[in-house]
Amino acid sequence: TVLVLDFGSQTAQLIARRVRDQNVFCQLVRHDLSAERIKELAPKGLILSGGPASVYAENAPQVDPEIFNLGIPVLGICYGMQAECRAMGCEVKPSQSREFGHTEMTCDADDPLFRGLPENFTVWMSHGDRVENLDESFVVLAETDDCPNAAIKHKDRPIYGLQFHPEVTHTQHGEHLLGNFIRNICGCEGSWKISSFIEQEVDSIRERVGQSRVICGLSGGVDSSVTAALLYKALGSQLTCIFVDNGLLRKGEREQVEYEFGEHFKTDLHVVDARDRFLEALAGVTDPQKKRKIIGKTFIDVFKDESAGIENAHFLAQGTLYPDVIESGANPDGPAATIKYHHNVGGLPEQLGFELIEPMRMLFKDEVRLMGHELGLPEKLIWRHPFPGPGLAVRCLGEITHDRLETLREADAVLIEELYDSDYYHKVQQAFAVLLPLQTVGVMGDARTYEDVIAIRSVDTDNFMTADWSRLPYDLLQRVSTRIINSVRGVNRVVYDISSKPPSTIEWE
Ligand code: XMP
Repeated sequence: TVLVLDFGSQTAQLIARRVRDQNVFCQLVRHDLSAERIKELAPKGLILSGGPASVYAENAPQVDPEIFNLGIPVLGICYGMQAECRAMGCEVKPSQSREFGHTEMTCDADDPLFRGLPENFTVWMSHGDRVENLDESFVVLAETDDCPNAAIKHKDRPIYGLQFHPEVTHTQHGEHLLGNFIRNICGCEGSWKISSFIEQEVDSIRERVGQSRVICGLSGGVDSSVTAALLYKALGSQLTCIFVDNGLLRKGEREQVEYEFGEHFKTDLHVVDARDRFLEALAGVTDPQKKRKIIGKTFIDVFKDESAGIENAHFLAQGTLYPDVIESGANPDGPAATIKYHHNVGGLPEQLGFELIEPMRMLFKDEVRLMGHELGLPEKLIWRHPFPGPGLAVRCLGEITHDRLETLREADAVLIEELYDSDYYHKVQQAFAVLLPLQTVGVMGDARTYEDVIAIRSVDTDNFMTADWSRLPYDLLQRVSTRIINSVRGVNRVVYDISSKPPSTIEWE
């Protein structure tokens, strides 16, 4: 294991990601984790992340200076390097020129940290402070025009510092460099694999659960599906899956869950048909936030009713992922600041008196997909676009009725099918149809029509925080439009959404 001490940088998670790309397990921990606790965790290496603060500012996050006496290799990055140097008695000052962006760097290619790299390459800098008077105990390994201490190393201990960011793709050879630190300096073998993680989790789930029953809520999405598949491997018939059909699902979603978890994995699958209950609760509601609230509450009620009848169940499983854990501040060794809190089933376990099982709370999304693949889930499910909890309700603008949902579901299915057939489904990150709350005039045959409008939304995005509209080929859009208008009753117009996020959002509600 390698630990990343998080000083609040946007790229701290990215560092953990890059380390795991080297097949070494990596976790984010609080920047001020005590040396004593680190000694207990016994990592093979420590990486100190960057951070927004200035090390000499009041209340600037500091590191426990004792960690440098543990004999564990340390790599400080940007702020992490400054915190490291300060803790070891060097001076950190504001630079005369702040450095942001690409910079040419010259390094000592003989050092194990730079082994296999050219002497000159481009790195990504982003800092206003820099280490000034290096102590005699440090040597300089690399410099740029504006930064004489771009990379440093302690003379006697395995302690390194980089003023630039090796974790971002703008730094050439960054991955190689991190790999050098992890292998050449920390001595990690790089044998962490998803299959060994599965075995480890299976053992710990069995031990924790004993003879009890575990309930897992299935949504049809990848996270809950992989969670259920893993639990099934660990517990077999001790697992009960609950799938709530709220009538707001995509076409074929319920059938796929029934097949995967009722037939392929023979879990004790409870499919609750709550379509009418949701429709009744949503009748006449058009406000998006009200829709969300009603759906959340109805879901909890339905889930409660269903789980109440299940005997000997003490555990509820959730597909919480690592980024959620970090962002919610729920990680006891994680950064203190709570950025946002989001749980898949907010508040449910506490209300029902369940203990929570979150077998994927240490994994990133792509690792979850890898795990799904390893556990035998179909690729189509693993790579399914994300779908919001309130489902089609927030894509059926205006009032929600059975017929309007049906129109939307059919139009959406046409779009998805065409994206698959043209190999565009995997090139875009999220695509769907939206039913607008208005009618427009058309002409079909010789008759005037006055019917619904379907909007198509498709976005390219890295993280769903920002997004751009997909440049889908015209002939693909044309096929989608023709098929929807010809085959979906009551639709006479299709429009394409060409707004980016921000200022728009991905969903229309
Ligand atoms: P927006 O529309 O905010 O969406 O750009 C960003 C991502 O979040 C999804 N989304 C939701 N997911 N419950 C969810 O579970 C919601 O209420 C919700 N609203 C938006 C959206 O599909 C996109 O992937």
